[in-house]
Amino acid sequence: MTYIIGMISQKGGVGKSTLARMMAREFIAGGMSAKIADLDTQQQTCTNWAGRRAEGGVAPEVQVQSFASVKTALEEAPRFDALILDGKPNASEQTAEVARASDLVVIPTGQTVDDLHPGVVLAHSLRKKGIAPQKVAFAMFKTTGSDRENAAARQYIIDAGYSVLDGEVPVSTAYGSASDIGKAITETSFRTLNERASKLAQSVIDKMAELGERQVA
Ligand SMILES: Nc1ncnc2c1ncn2[C@@H]1O[C@H](COP(=O)(O)OP(=O)(O)OP(=O)(O)O)[C@@H](O)[C@H]1O
Ligand SMILES: [Mg+2]
Repeated sequence: MTYIIGMISQKGGVGKSTLARMMAREFIAGGMSAKIADLDTQQQTCTNWAGRRAEGGVAPEVQVQSFASVKTALEEAPRFDALILDGKPNASEQTAEVARASDLVVIPTGQTVDDLHPGVVLAHSLRKKGIAPQKVAFAMFKTTGSDRENAAARQYIIDAGYSVLDGEVPVSTAYGSASDIGKAITETSFRTLNERASKLAQSVIDKMAELGERQVA
């Protein structure tokens, strides 16, 4: 069975592509085969990153392919243990298609209401379109380190009826620098930053496992 994970948001720049790259890298490092389907044909963030990664000889190799439609991306699924769909922002139709196709949908978000609100509005709109809220999970991205703000952000999402993944990715220029040279956010030069990102990656994997068990049960 192939795990299909969709990274979506309404707002741009929240961390979808960063998350997609980290998850692909972590699956591959864990001995699974994975591919990123880059659905943002204009920006091609993941596709360009894979080019930098190959150029820099960063191992393991991460396969990324650009697709104009979710339908053609899904044709790749049987060949991999995990297919990661990197969606584009402000694309309600594509976003719904990604959500429908995915076993787990991750919505990265910042901690402010400005960021949280559009994420929750998106999750509600998917719910209205028949997407089970259980397969939607929020990921805290670019956090600022205030425990109070962090707790309030998590509560906001829980109160709206959705789950938040354990762990969070703090804002750090080192993450951006890693990405500039084709690395994932679990591959920076700083062990603490790698560990923080890894914790989030592990909770994505745990969530996938939990959803899988529920399907079998
Ligand atoms: N934790 C972080 N700290 C600092 N910068 C970050 C962090 N995570 C991501 N970034 C940077 O923020 C920018 C946006 O991230 P990313 O491309 O992953 O978002 P996105 O949701 O895919 O954006 P888009 O909606 O444009 O596709 C990138 O320049 C990325 O390198
Ligand atoms: Mg992107």
